[in-house]
Amino acid sequence: MNFHLTEEQEMLRKMIRDFAENQVAPTAAERDEEERFDRSIFEQMAELGLTGIPWPEKYGGAGADYLSYVLAVEELSRVDASIGVTLSAHVSLASWPIYKFGTEEQKQKYLRPLAEGKKLGAYCLTEPGSGSDAAGMRTTAVRDGDHYVLNGSKIFITNAGEAEIYIVFALTNPELKHKGITAFIVEKGMPGFTMGKKEKKLGIRSSPTLAVNFEDVRVPVENVLGEEGQGFKIAMMTLDGGRNGIAAQALGIAQGAFDHALAYAKERHQFGKPIASLQAIQFKLADMATKIEAARLLTYQAAWLEDQGLPYGKASAMSKVFAGDIAMEVTTEAVQIFGGYGYTREYPVERFMRDAKITQIYEGTNEIQRVVISNYLLKE
Ligand code: CAA
Repeated sequence: MNFHLTEEQEMLRKMIRDFAENQVAPTAAERDEEERFDRSIFEQMAELGLTGIPWPEKYGGAGADYLSYVLAVEELSRVDASIGVTLSAHVSLASWPIYKFGTEEQKQKYLRPLAEGKKLGAYCLTEPGSGSDAAGMRTTAVRDGDHYVLNGSKIFITNAGEAEIYIVFALTNPELKHKGITAFIVEKGMPGFTMGKKEKKLGIRSSPTLAVNFEDVRVPVENVLGEEGQGFKIAMMTLDGGRNGIAAQALGIAQGAFDHALAYAKERHQFGKPIASLQAIQFKLADMATKIEAARLLTYQAAWLEDQGLPYGKASAMSKVFAGDIAMEVTTEAVQIFGGYGYTREYPVERFMRDAKITQIYEGTNEIQRVVISNYLLKE
């Protein structure tokens, strides 16, 4: 067993940390306050090769592994979880299914610009009436000659509005329930495809979250991803990897909050000495660091399994549930260490605490992760 990153992975981590600290962190609080997505940060990530980290160079990617991608999401989220999820949704949810199920033409037409960061991706599964019960969707796609006609609405779509390429799941045969769902590649600007309400959120406020509407949207047959009726499996398999991306985001949030809390505990004096000298604070720091390290091992392991071509669905769900839960605990403790100051927007830890909450909710609530994990356990 080898718990060390390779030299390339270490260099990549350092490069991303420098970028995150110098280009992302300085404006994170302001973008959060203004609920503003900054496309120029995504463009800089493209220049660094981050937008296509795990895809082969022939599709415009950097040809690195999934562990490198996880390191990127972790490092970005360590300073700004909104940027972390922008990359995670773009790579895991929008690009992965094209890489895995797309035809060569689809890969050249859609994966390449996503990998190169010329276009941004989004994934449309959730609907007003179907969240955890993803198969309960209502959006339909009816074949009409060499097109499908899409009608319906999706909600809570990360990157929506800004994204140019959307992976959309719709019922092509409602009677067959989940076996009647098909995946489509939909482009921004297709007539009838419009953006709906932009959510005002507790956290990840500079990551746009919108509803999207389909009104007689004519999508060419060549934009079907995979086979007709294969959509639910594509959605689930995509989430298997996506959940590891969210684990990386949660891990980064926890690490970022911890780093601030540790530094503050050494600086803040009470009773004539730094609060870091008090055992009440020391025990908090020890527990926080231990939880973060455990989350890191689970998160890296799931990525490593994917890199080895081994099954990773259970490991990915475990990484997501654990990292999400400890991100909430660690950020809450970080605010506690900062005391009254931590509750204000003068310091960044309240943002980390607000951002952590979503990691227990999206890409399958942590309750759903426990369903997924127990399904594996009962089958094994
Ligand atoms: N890989 C491959 N196939 C899978 C699979 C997987 N991971 N999971 C399920 N399937 C297959 C099953 O084998 C089964 O196939 P057959 O019919 O051929 O036997 C089929 O799918 C149906 O499986 P289930 O009976 O288990 O399906 P279910 O309806 O009970 O749902 C669920 C299972 C795990 C609860 C699923 O609905 C789920 O994951 N829900 C959560 C949805 C979710 O994560 N949404 C996130 C939205 S995206 C997001 O949040 C992004 C963002 O903002 C950043």
